[in-house]
Amino acid sequence: MNKVVEERTRRTEWYREARFGMFIHWGLYAIPARGEWLRSTEQLTREEYEPFKDEFTTENYNPKEWARMAKEAGMKYAVLTAKHHDGFCLFDSKLTDFKSTNAPCGRDLVREFLEAFREEGIRVGLYYSVIDWRHPDFPHYGDMHHPMRNRPEYSNENRNFDNYLEYMFGQIKELLTDYGKLDVMWFDFSYGNMKCDTWKAKELIEMVRSIQPDVIIDNRLEGSGENAGSIRTLDPTPYSGDFASPEQMIPPAGIRDEAGNPIPWESCITLNNNWGYAAHDHHYKSAKMVIHMLVECVSKGGNLLLNVGPNAKGEIPGESVAILREVGAWMKKNGKSIYGCGYAELPKPEWGRFTRRGNVLYAHVMEEQAGAICLEDMAGKIEKMRLLSDNSEIKQANYWNLKEFSQNAFFFFNPHASDCYPLPDELDTVVEIYLKEE
Ligand code: GLC
Repeated sequence: MNKVVEERTRRTEWYREARFGMFIHWGLYAIPARGEWLRSTEQLTREEYEPFKDEFTTENYNPKEWARMAKEAGMKYAVLTAKHHDGFCLFDSKLTDFKSTNAPCGRDLVREFLEAFREEGIRVGLYYSVIDWRHPDFPHYGDMHHPMRNRPEYSNENRNFDNYLEYMFGQIKELLTDYGKLDVMWFDFSYGNMKCDTWKAKELIEMVRSIQPDVIIDNRLEGSGENAGSIRTLDPTPYSGDFASPEQMIPPAGIRDEAGNPIPWESCITLNNNWGYAAHDHHYKSAKMVIHMLVECVSKGGNLLLNVGPNAKGEIPGESVAILREVGAWMKKNGKSIYGCGYAELPKPEWGRFTRRGNVLYAHVMEEQAGAICLEDMAGKIEKMRLLSDNSEIKQANYWNLKEFSQNAFFFFNPHASDCYPLPDELDTVVEIYLKEE
């Protein structure tokens, strides 16, 4: 096995077990509350954007509460934006004054986040944008995304990109050196020629690995949400990352390399339609949809990194809190069908999805069926079945109207009913199926 792949497999063992994480996009952009890209989409100058720093009070920021919420939801890791594209640092960087410790809140928000989540036994990660719209040596005019991309007066003469890289490396080194053990470094994102060698990615990864050899890294020093980069090849670069990071979608067949070997991946998805706090955006996904997204990711060998966008006071929106609570109640009963599970290598059933861990299959029944639930081609292969939520026995059915289809196995949720029967859990009813040793 290729050394990069071997190392990646070792480092991601906990990650492939965890399956479910919290993404947190928080920063100055929570004040205008129109999403984290507003400097670029509204082409705001520094002078128009930076005064928001003087209002950043975060008076209700209580990361212990966030950590408890994540734990209750069944999340096993959490990733907070330490610095987004706007350049504002939620940590006490010695390399800039554009940071939370210089805002009215006067706090190192990253340090408090890390301490609170570690205390709850949740693995921790930091998102760091390699893009920086504030730094004078980052390309402005003509760049694909910079807020001043259409302003010739912001020409790139006299911008020294090496100065910017020194700043970027320095901040990443601060995060890796001054904040204890990190489990994830989530870099974002590459585009056009702003990728790979432009970031000095090989040297960057060498630095990261020399300080924190076990931290896992996403694939966006090479790619973005739209392409996975060399992590899918059989000869991945040293900066190809430890996991792929499809965004706002779930890969139709999961993600495998060119030889068909599963590779670690996570879909990062928002609860409404924005990463950062967007006061107008109340289009939240239901708990049912979140559970189905999580099951879909796991059924395809991946993780779900589910995003919350706290407001400027440091509060996670009430809609998000309610959804996470409902998801957590389901996870409490059914987490065994998620953690450490993956591809079942079976066709997707009509009624829902399969996840699998070793010799145990989990049938996630999401839709009522006319009559018995069908386990295709599984006649004679099942040791026993249990309703996961209460360990009650589920017996195989051999009702008269099923006999003709004898290559399949069937079951009813209610042994006394031979017709359609409401699902015990309308969110997703999980049946634990112990397969006979082959
Ligand atoms: C995209 C967005 C960025 C967000 C990231 C999360 O790159 O541009 O704002 O942080 O997705 O995956």
